[in-house]
Amino acid sequence: MNNFTFQNQTKIIFGQNTLEQTGLESKKYSDHVLLVYGGGSIKKYGVYDKVTTSLKEENIEFTELEGIRPNPLLKKVREGIDICRNNDIDFILAVGGGSVIDSAKAIAAGVPYEGDVWDFFSGQAEIKEALPVGTVLTIPAAGSESSPAAVINKQDEDLKWDIGSDLLRPKFSILNPEVTFTLPPYQTACGAADIMAHIMERYFTQTKNVEITDHLCEGTMKTIIKNVPLVLEEPENYAARAEIMWAGTIAHNDLLGTGREEDWASHSIEHEISALYEDIAHGAGLAVIFPAWMKYVYRENVKRFARFASRVWGVETDFENLEWTALQGIQAVEEFFNSIGLSTSLKELGVDTADLEEMAEKCTTRGTVGNFKELDKNDVLEIYKLAT
Ligand code: NZQ
Ligand code: ZN
Repeated sequence: MNNFTFQNQTKIIFGQNTLEQTGLESKKYSDHVLLVYGGGSIKKYGVYDKVTTSLKEENIEFTELEGIRPNPLLKKVREGIDICRNNDIDFILAVGGGSVIDSAKAIAAGVPYEGDVWDFFSGQAEIKEALPVGTVLTIPAAGSESSPAAVINKQDEDLKWDIGSDLLRPKFSILNPEVTFTLPPYQTACGAADIMAHIMERYFTQTKNVEITDHLCEGTMKTIIKNVPLVLEEPENYAARAEIMWAGTIAHNDLLGTGREEDWASHSIEHEISALYEDIAHGAGLAVIFPAWMKYVYRENVKRFARFASRVWGVETDFENLEWTALQGIQAVEEFFNSIGLSTSLKELGVDTADLEEMAEKCTTRGTVGNFKELDKNDVLEIYKLAT
């Protein structure tokens, strides 16, 4: 096990009747908040009413920034920064999923910074301070509700880059699984693929003696595999929605990566897809890329892949032929994604094979990606080809 420091400041408020605490929690930081949300689902399904009622009860003024779209845009972040500066707003409340929360985090970093917020993404500046952020999560997926990261699309250059700082971890996140009853099956499935991916990025490591986190990863993956089919069958199954929602946070609050080197190649490879094809959801891209990555790298540590097959998917280990066992595990991942309604082919997603070369080039402009096996441009291109 490697040395590590683990600190996660986000207060999680989980369960039924918790949206009502939004005002009380926000009040600890400000009397005037920027309320950030997406394309309208929160208004349609009553979340907006509950949140704003709670803010009003605490006499908190709120200014709104609506219309954050999936694969969120830099121009909305800049708009949010201007609103905060012009109105002396010093707290951001994000109500939505990863796209909304990431926009809120980028705004939080941008307000106190004199230059342009994209400087943080391009590596030209380091985040030294940020406004506090709170969240009301509506979709278990990105894990942004307690992660230090934010991912933003710069549309004019087809870039999708991320920033990370402990200063960006939300102060609090309110998670009521009932809010997720209204998720369309496709969004539920994309979220599940992202959660699985966050765990697998950590699970596939070359670090030895990481038993505790191996077990935690395996248990969290099995929870997703069991409960996602249940909610697709019965969207208002509270028990199953609750398991998925908490798993989504645990998958990406950094606990599962403690003491081990993490990989993150598949995320880098996917981000080039949702940078160029803004209608493709991050989770949908991951469902295609992860199995292809696995097929490309499993020989780097067949034993780990065989363990994954056996412990997570219940494949009987063939000790005479560990490679066969490993491949059964990869097949199980593909079958699972397909069974919940996700494609595992780039062509089916609508990606033009003529774009693969450029995507591989952009993916590796800042160096190789991944740690399980370090991948250069040619490796990434091979993975895209395996995924077509
Ligand atoms: O915009 P609205 O109308 O709210 O609809 C949203 C959106 O269309 C809908 N939705 C959300 N909650 C709902 C709902 N519909 C009905 N009922 C509800 N309760 O779902 C759609 C997707 O929302 P989005 O926020 O885009 O989803 P997600 O949470 O998957 O976020 C994806 C973004 O997060 C980034 C991704 O790259 C992507 O841009 N990530 C952020 C990370 C982080 N900050 O740590 C890590 C991840 O790996 C990921 O890269
Ligand atoms: Zn992700």
